[in-house]
Amino acid sequence: MNNKIIIINGPNINLLGEREQSQYGDITFKELKENCIDKSKELNLDIEFVQSNVEGEVVNLIQNSRKNFDGMIINAAAFTHTSIAIRDALSVFKKPIIELHLSNIYKREEFRHKSLISDVVDGGIFGLGANGYILAIIAMQKILKK
Ligand code: DQA
Repeated sequence: MNNKIIIINGPNINLLGEREQSQYGDITFKELKENCIDKSKELNLDIEFVQSNVEGEVVNLIQNSRKNFDGMIINAAAFTHTSIAIRDALSVFKKPIIELHLSNIYKREEFRHKSLISDVVDGGIFGLGANGYILAIIAMQKILKK
């Protein structure tokens, strides 16, 4: 049976292609989703790719993933820097988690330098744009194969 992974995206990631292209590139959310689905299929992973602008919904998505998924890739977007609730939900997941950011959060405003989730995830990728998602899927496949 294929391993199942979920990619969770936080607020404003749905506006990729339209928002701050200098930070996030010109890829649209739809294209990003399609690329992630294609890569997952190639690696025999079942994937769910979701996005929410609502903090509580992201918490619910993380909680509900506990039973249905083997690994998680999360771009919590602005909630990365603010949400103890998302951090606490991630702590309960107990399976591999990769934190992801399109932009290099350490090269940007100081308030983005602090991630509240980095120390409850297994690893992270930042600053590599949409390629970061593909690299995270490859890494997750290798982690789950072990
Ligand atoms: C982001 C970085 C966050 O600081 C920002 O709030 C986002 C996107 C990224 O992917 O680079 O919305 O997570």
